Amino acid sequence: MTVKIGLVGTGTVGGGCLDIYNKHKDDFKRHYGVDIELVRVCSLDKAEAEAHGVGHLFTNDFNEIINDPDIDLVIELIGGTGVAHAIVTGALKAGKYVVTANKALMATAGEEIFDLADEAGVEIAFEASVGGGIPIIDPMKHSLISNEISSVLGIVNGTTNYMLTRMDKEGIPYDEVLADAQAKGFAEADPTADVDGFDAAAKIAILASIAFNSRVVLSDVSTEGIRNVQPIDLKAAHDMGYVVKLLAIAHRTDEGVDVRVHPTMIPDTHQLAHVNGVDNAIYVTGDAVGETMFFGAGAGAGPAASAVMGDVLEVSRRIMQGVPPLVGCTCTDKLPIVPMDNLETCYYLRLVVPDRVGVLAAAAKVFSENDVSLRSVIQEGTRARDAVNLIFVTHAAREKNIRKALEDLAAAEDMLIGEPTVIRVED
Ligand code: HSE
Repeated sequence: MTVKIGLVGTGTVGGGCLDIYNKHKDDFKRHYGVDIELVRVCSLDKAEAEAHGVGHLFTNDFNEIINDPDIDLVIELIGGTGVAHAIVTGALKAGKYVVTANKALMATAGEEIFDLADEAGVEIAFEASVGGGIPIIDPMKHSLISNEISSVLGIVNGTTNYMLTRMDKEGIPYDEVLADAQAKGFAEADPTADVDGFDAAAKIAILASIAFNSRVVLSDVSTEGIRNVQPIDLKAAHDMGYVVKLLAIAHRTDEGVDVRVHPTMIPDTHQLAHVNGVDNAIYVTGDAVGETMFFGAGAGAGPAASAVMGDVLEVSRRIMQGVPPLVGCTCTDKLPIVPMDNLETCYYLRLVVPDRVGVLAAAAKVFSENDVSLRSVIQEGTRARDAVNLIFVTHAAREKNIRKALEDLAAAEDMLIGEPTVIRVED
């Protein structure tokens, strides 16, 4: 049997898949007995399909793929939750297997998609939705299945990791490093999804759902990005023995699932502290396996296409052998999401304040009134300027109290200049 495939999306990842297909199609059959044939390619841009030698398979109407009874498997690579939702759900309803790289879709409509796949007796595979080329979903759904996973910590956004690395190693300010990331094609013209943490939030929602067997959706993830982080924060972190990363965090706790994305100080001795540039890494702790780390390129045509095509071949092997879908939805529990207000940790807080007598004392008073105990305070800046940085590090404090203290500081007259920088500590 030959597995017939329809591909939707010929951008970076789709182009990477076409390159792998053109290069290795015969090897797949020779080495693994997996016989696949691309029969239709849908895109808005015919030139992209032609550039990869598949112009003769081109259509600009995805219905020609999901309504084609000959097609067994649909690859969705357009991203987003609009048309992609129609393609994925339409393909599943038509009884086709689906492979996608779409993190936003899986993190918002995962349950609906799994239910449709179950009803149709087919499979949805999405390895490329997290960590680009890094195998993480398959290992968590297979190799680590005998574990109770207690935590997943991830550097899962290459753009922000690149920016933080350059701010850290070269002291380049945020705006400059963002412009550089955009010039290099790492960051989009609208960088919101990356720098505000939403890309990482979708990825940790997917990983937490698998790790804890309980559905976590994008809106469950408390999310803060890196817009307020500057080289001064990275230097201060170093002085205390920490490195700052945009960490995607999911812990199983007695109260439920603690899941969040925010700039985080991690000890400089931790393996994640040494993951630099656009690389990604996911650190998984299980009760039997202990600590494991998965590392590699988190984005780019080759790495993402490697993950997509791995799914395509595994699913195709099962279609050919008539094996029913192996792993469907594993979210059998309904764990509550721990409110962010309940978090208790140490905080690094940098306030930009006017340099005048009494400001430090007034700020310290606000913290004490909110039951936030301070461990240290540093003033950075000189009287020559009219603004200085006050850097506070707290003892373990409640998130709720920290937020209230920051609200009180913002409301106080002539106190804060701009937004405070908040970095939580993960020891
Ligand atoms: N924008 C993502 C990143 C890649 O910067 O890692 C796609 O998930």
